[in-house]
Amino acid sequence: MNRILTTETVNKVGEEVVLKGWVNARRNMGKIVFLDLRDRGGIVQVVGVPSELDEASNESLKEVRPEWVIQIKGIVKERGEKQKNSDMPTGTVEILMKELVVLNQAETPPFEIDKDTKGINEELRLKYRYLDLRSERMLKNLILRDKVETFFREYLHAKNFIEVETPNLTKGTPEGSREFLVPSRVHSGKMYVLPQSPQQFKQLLMVGGVEKYFQVARCFRDEDQRGDRQPEFTQLDLEMSFVEQEDVLNLVENMMVELVAKVAPEKKIQSVPFPRISYKEAMEKYNSDKPDLREDKNDPNLFAFEWVVDFPMFEKADDGSVQAVHHPFTSPRAEDMDKLGSDPFSVRANAYDLVLNGNEIFGGSIRIHKRELQNKVFELLGLDEKTIQERFGHMLEAFTFGAPPHGGIASGIDRILMLLANEENIREVIPFPKTGDARDLMMNAPSEMPEQALKDVHIKLA
Ligand code: AMO
Repeated sequence: MNRILTTETVNKVGEEVVLKGWVNARRNMGKIVFLDLRDRGGIVQVVGVPSELDEASNESLKEVRPEWVIQIKGIVKERGEKQKNSDMPTGTVEILMKELVVLNQAETPPFEIDKDTKGINEELRLKYRYLDLRSERMLKNLILRDKVETFFREYLHAKNFIEVETPNLTKGTPEGSREFLVPSRVHSGKMYVLPQSPQQFKQLLMVGGVEKYFQVARCFRDEDQRGDRQPEFTQLDLEMSFVEQEDVLNLVENMMVELVAKVAPEKKIQSVPFPRISYKEAMEKYNSDKPDLREDKNDPNLFAFEWVVDFPMFEKADDGSVQAVHHPFTSPRAEDMDKLGSDPFSVRANAYDLVLNGNEIFGGSIRIHKRELQNKVFELLGLDEKTIQERFGHMLEAFTFGAPPHGGIASGIDRILMLLANEENIREVIPFPKTGDARDLMMNAPSEMPEQALKDVHIKLA
């Protein structure tokens, strides 16, 4: 007999079924023992009556404990009116057990997983993430991630985008953070860099004639952690040729409205079309480049999106140097071009962010596609000719071979999920996240390496 999921039992009243899963709870009522059986569908109540069971099953029923893995055979019974539980999707039925087989035993878990684990010490949850994932909320968040990524893929495929994978062993792209380095074994003294985003590759794909690219891409940034930041996170990254800012904004806006309607219909979007606000106005009015425009901040189902546009091209870093507000591949606005040499800090960029309830969820720009202008921007950023060639010579060269006008955007999928799921931290929507100080407590990473492994990659620790 084929195993079915607990959720399917409601349609099988009177039938014999086989269920497999974990003991969520065991209640001993004297003669009768109730087991809540949990699988990836949900939970169903199983009734163990000694007279209905063979000897081996009765022995197992005495021993069985929460989180043991079991297989049962039983008859689906409709519950009496008074016993029906409307809080449970399977609350109209229970399974009268005929056979119980223990598939595996379990130690007592270090925390209770039949309840929401939100209040549990997070380090413990992360060390035993595989147990935490058994809890209902965590599984729901994993399913939501799958739904959202599937939605993005289907939406963009329908608009003739193609998903292209770009390398993770590469040379850095400046996105304003420190980079993770990977030493090369074959090339002594040289290193790869993990990408902070696929920025350069997606632009080179435009030079390659792809025209409409997207990727659900893993990005790596060695920066201080916060609730909405992880050293490794997922972007929905996209790029298009022959587009203007308006095209990118429209695409993303329509996609997000449809996403919310599809995966979180309980959410109300405060205003469509999304309001647009310039960086200058946002700073003057709200002292923030990602203001939270919700009219009622206590409404958990209110979504206020806004576009922040007209970012400046450059800003002064703490050490006084000039840095790009978005990244150095962003184009200046045509009407500000003449101020590039004389007053660079007043030049506005073709850059835009999408903000949701005060969180920056997308950022992008129309890019530079001409060699001279790109070179000029690198110079304004204080890079000398040699450094420009070493770091970005390939981009400058690519622009000389017929680079089309292009632009794009990328989102933090983890942040979108956090907001869709009403979570306060992106760790809650990432299957295996790192701690606030960038450790993986389950695998125990980062970890020390054997001397030989270091020698192989030509590294000597100080
Ligand atoms: P940007 O650096 O703005 O742009 O990143 C795009 C979006 O990625 C999310 N994000 C993060 N999410 C989790 N943890 C982090 N450490 C983290 N850092 C960023 C944010 C942000 O809006 N290549 C450009 C995009 C482009 O120009 O097309 C880029 O990466 O939600």
